[in-house]
Amino acid sequence: MIASTFSTKFRMLPPSAAPLRPADILAGLKAMANPHEALDGLREAVQKKFGVRHAFFATSGRAGLSAGLRALRRLNPERDEVLLPAYTSFSVPSAVVNAGLKVSLYDLQADTLAPDMESLERAMGPRTLCVVACHLFGYPVDLTPIETLCRQHGAALLDDAAQAMGASIGGRMAGTMGDVGLFSLSRGKNMTAVDGGIVLTDRDDVAEGLVGMLAPESGDLATSLRHVTQSLILLAMLHPRAYWLPASLPFLNIGASVFAPEFTVSGLDAFRAGLTGSVLKRLDSLNAGRRNMAASLLAGLERLDGIRTIRPMPDADPVFLRLPVLPESGAWPGGQVPEKAALGVVRSYPLALQEITTLKPHLSASEACPVAAMLAKNLLTLPTHAYVRDDDVAALGSCLKDIFGRADGGAIWFTPRSPHMEKRA
Ligand SMILES: Cc1ncc(COP(=O)(O)O)c(C=O)c1O
Repeated sequence: MIASTFSTKFRMLPPSAAPLRPADILAGLKAMANPHEALDGLREAVQKKFGVRHAFFATSGRAGLSAGLRALRRLNPERDEVLLPAYTSFSVPSAVVNAGLKVSLYDLQADTLAPDMESLERAMGPRTLCVVACHLFGYPVDLTPIETLCRQHGAALLDDAAQAMGASIGGRMAGTMGDVGLFSLSRGKNMTAVDGGIVLTDRDDVAEGLVGMLAPESGDLATSLRHVTQSLILLAMLHPRAYWLPASLPFLNIGASVFAPEFTVSGLDAFRAGLTGSVLKRLDSLNAGRRNMAASLLAGLERLDGIRTIRPMPDADPVFLRLPVLPESGAWPGGQVPEKAALGVVRSYPLALQEITTLKPHLSASEACPVAAMLAKNLLTLPTHAYVRDDDVAALGSCLKDIFGRADGGAIWFTPRSPHMEKRA
């Protein structure tokens, strides 16, 4: 009784999570004994799974992004501007500035979160080195028209699938549609190695530049021990029974969005490469669980008044890293975003990129991007990960129902109907 009261009272869902297992950590430890073999094995597995010629591993997604941009700049030194969606992770402009480049912005479409093509076209110029396209929250964007636009302007395309590992559109995998592709392995992504990034390319000239930049991190014992400890802490702390603890410690800044362009760019160490190889085998099942959870939530949300979900693009197979929702009228009732941290219902990025004061010195004259500003104010995300239980889905339902009410006035909705495969495995 005391145990169950304790676990209900202290249960807190992280907004996003990809569980690690002890076997993943063991695979990491094993990899430390044979670093080259581990990295080569991982490279082969990634190349095969995503059908690409080259794969590189970085200490973080932003390090991978910075390396990809540096490799493109090396081939096109007279261009120094990178076009970003004005609503995305603050890590993206951090990587651009880290690579010594300028940021320029384009707006998004509110219904799909895909680029607003007119805004993107207006932002293109003779100094555009590259367009970064992001598949936000696991909703894949069709990059074909952006590819065409980039070719017309002599710019490169960077397919940032940090939030969409495993998603596809029209049979093309997110992360493989540009000159350079990116996945993130940080804590809140589709799969995690605590931290890390994967850079993909089919271009030999880009790969040549990446080789030198992403040499594996030195395997000194202190670094390896730190990584092992971090993975053990993550394994324990992401669990909803424990998550309230790190979430309540303000100095940990969990979930905070920070623009921080100073970081080192280097390759992944053997421990995290081994961890990645082990988790990669479960990526499809983790994503299948997210799709099931999203289906449950979407079925309930459909019946609510005043709230709307994001429309996947035609032929898209999203992986629902989180489930984003928006107020139908463009603003939440009473101007208050209905966050519910205990259930992992949180706003995502608090500002559009044009609103980050410390980024302003690095911004070229940019588009106004009003949709991005609206998204930053209003977009709320629901959790879809393997720790979300059926009773959480029901609790999410009653919480949102209290705020919005049912369109048809009835009482019962939000049937938890799709167990997370990963949870039961
Ligand atoms: C769209 C996008 N790109 C890049 C990154 C950078 O990844 P990392 O957190 O691994 O540095 C993130 C992380 O949040 C992201 O969401």
